[in-house]
Amino acid sequence: MEIRPTVAIDGPAGAGKSTVAKEVAKNLNIDYLDTGAMYRAVTYIALRDYWDLHNEEELNEKIQDLEFKIKTSERGETITIINGEDVTPFIRSAEINQNVSFIAKSSAIRKKLVLLQRQLGEMGGIVMDGRDIGTRVLPQAPYKFFLTASLGERAKRRYKELVTKDPNLNIKEVEKDIAKRDNIDKNREIDP
Ligand code: DC
Repeated sequence: MEIRPTVAIDGPAGAGKSTVAKEVAKNLNIDYLDTGAMYRAVTYIALRDYWDLHNEEELNEKIQDLEFKIKTSERGETITIINGEDVTPFIRSAEINQNVSFIAKSSAIRKKLVLLQRQLGEMGGIVMDGRDIGTRVLPQAPYKFFLTASLGERAKRRYKELVTKDPNLNIKEVEKDIAKRDNIDKNREIDP
């Protein structure tokens, strides 16, 4: 019988969660869901449409108007389609990196995305990575991992990923951004 396990991988930015998760999915022939991509996709829409990222009431209203479709690309990457628009090409910019933690802090947005993620995980046969997968999204997952690395190592990984798009990038700036994001993610009220 084919085994289709549910695997949760949690950990901070730049630790290598998605690299590992994609390999695991490929090897076990199961799906992969990058839940960070979903928070990034909402951040893209929020910045583009001038949402007030610090107004919970407004975020609660706006998120209800978004309809999500999640697919996987041939390379195993998560594709997020919002209201019919594939926003995946726009979610890895420095601007998104700097603002995504504010979106991920919102209880209304977390509620909607966690629900979607649970629905996608319901059938099993999936590896999900994020910050709250083992604790909140798939607490019953039989395989849970926490993947981390030093701040310097994580900054190096993120720098390598981003420098191809922005040759003027400074590794110290990347490190500062990650430290700031860690701080917001770790100290937020909901699912820190
Ligand atoms: O893993 P990443 O850098 O793509 O995540 C982007 C942001 O989304 C990060 O600030 C943490 C947040 N996030 C979250 O709060 N919960 C998740 N399950 C996944 C990501």
